[in-house]
Amino acid sequence: MENGNTPQLIRERLNIVDIIGERIPLEKKGKNFFGVCPFHDDTSPSLCVSAEKQIYTCFSCHATGNIFSFIMDYEHINFVETLKYLGEKAGIDTNNIHIKSTNNKYQKYYDIYDFTLKYFQNNLQSEVGIAAKKYLAERKIDETIIKEFQIGLSLKNKDDLTKVLTVKNYDLVDLNKIGLSNDSHDIYSNRIMFPLYDINGKVVAFSGRLYNDDKNNKYVNTKETPIFKKGECLYHYHIAKEEARIKKNVIIMEGFMDVIRASTIGIKNTIALMGTALTKEQIKLIKRLSNNIILCLDGDEPGRKASLNIGNIFLKENIEVKIITLPNDDDPDSFILKEGKESFLAYLENALNFGDYKIKAMRENVNFNSVEETSNYINSVIEEISSIDDPIRTEIILKKLAKDFNIGYNTLEKKFLNLRGELQKTTQPRISKLKEKVQKNKYQKAVEQIIYFMLTNEWVITEVTRTNLLITEENYRILIREICYYYETFGKVTIADMITYLNDKEKPLITLKEIINNIYQDQVDKETLYLYFKVISDDNISRQIKVLERKLKDELDPVKQAQTAEEIRRLRIGE
Ligand code: UTP
Ligand code: MN
Repeated sequence: MENGNTPQLIRERLNIVDIIGERIPLEKKGKNFFGVCPFHDDTSPSLCVSAEKQIYTCFSCHATGNIFSFIMDYEHINFVETLKYLGEKAGIDTNNIHIKSTNNKYQKYYDIYDFTLKYFQNNLQSEVGIAAKKYLAERKIDETIIKEFQIGLSLKNKDDLTKVLTVKNYDLVDLNKIGLSNDSHDIYSNRIMFPLYDINGKVVAFSGRLYNDDKNNKYVNTKETPIFKKGECLYHYHIAKEEARIKKNVIIMEGFMDVIRASTIGIKNTIALMGTALTKEQIKLIKRLSNNIILCLDGDEPGRKASLNIGNIFLKENIEVKIITLPNDDDPDSFILKEGKESFLAYLENALNFGDYKIKAMRENVNFNSVEETSNYINSVIEEISSIDDPIRTEIILKKLAKDFNIGYNTLEKKFLNLRGELQKTTQPRISKLKEKVQKNKYQKAVEQIIYFMLTNEWVITEVTRTNLLITEENYRILIREICYYYETFGKVTIADMITYLNDKEKPLITLKEIINNIYQDQVDKETLYLYFKVISDDNISRQIKVLERKLKDELDPVKQAQTAEEIRRLRIGE
């Protein structure tokens, strides 16, 4: 990294409490600030932000870092982008900084996808694309949409793309790895190609749709690859990110065709699940877009079932969910095509609050001529609303039930209050389970404490260098070397700065994060420091003794035996 001082300058001008506080509510307790950690699934305030050290640590998932790592992980942007963003906030010009992008581990793969995307787009625009274009036109996908969503075409011959890419000197092993080829054959042939994007808008996969027969699978999607994680895939996320902020909500649909169609009528705060099973990662990503979610899944039975399931999941996450129920044989795509923009906007406007949707859904298929079915229905509605934390809404629902079924309001309320009482007994505040930490032995603890002292008391660095402390474990040794280097170069060092400096050095960064998580002492005097040094030298000696003892056992020559025994004796008495 060049310009090592710029990140430090930016960091010193900003306060981590403000930067994190803009994103999650923080509460001051003693010297530190606490909030709900955004990096794992939680509702209790396990994230601790230290104003003094300018770092954060999560007691639960052990996420730790400084302002830079927080913004990178929270906003899913790379280091350079983070530096620019925070630089602007701090009023520091970052335009002239040339830092090697740290996210280039997979740059080659992204390049191949960029090239392939252009290639597919070309195919569609050429002579061979006429039939596909006709199909798209029939589906009311015009040239503007084709451009905007970068739609393309794979060709009939089954090794076309693979050939083109290998001629460009891309390695077949890579093409297989990233899901474009299988041996030397193409994965996709004669399909309309929809690029799939990661959350930053990079093309990382394709979904290929059949257009001239319906014998095979309608869509073929790229397999899971190093750059395409299916469990994190949400179509259109990179666009919805901005739009959700403006519209203050996000609309979830099933398929990308639905999202594309909605976009044509100016609704762009949309994402598609690409299949209906919602993963934990997707939930986390969606939570980041907005706390107001509108589900607009297909109108069919599976779509309705999924609305209930997904609604319940978000309800547990304390996220406001609304549901749109389309006519039975429609998805958003077909609905908008048939009924037009105004009708869809009206459906959007009248989206049902999830609680009301559930109660309405319960009514379906109940035979109200049967006393048993009716009373089951009433009981399940009461059960449902007992978890609603809004006395006005619950009263309205109970009054309506009383009127509809001609039952005394008091009878219903009594049942409701009973259920609520039981519920409150069982939902004690959840104590988040701590992730297991690796247990450290006495030697490791001493080394880690010394490293921590180096970062909180600069004079310790000089002592460590002067003493020539022999650290046997490579991880620690490397980290110590990095700390000393940083100190020599920039004249000072803090934990927060070290985190940024180690940004592209994976191993020492992991070691540093482990140390931060173990909560060591800050302050030390010389005498105490030397006690820690002694733990390390004692450990070194006992290690040497063990080696010699083994040697002694195998030694046949009596003279050498005596020498080794003498060496052991000297080490034991500390000479
Ligand atoms: P749908 O079958 O609802 O897709 O599947 P759609 O949007 O209506 O597609 P068209 O209108 O027939 O072209 C929803 C999503 O499920 C995934 C796709 O991601 C699709 O967008 N899917 C569906 C597949 O992956 N494979 C399939 O064979 C079908
Ligand atoms: Mn469809």
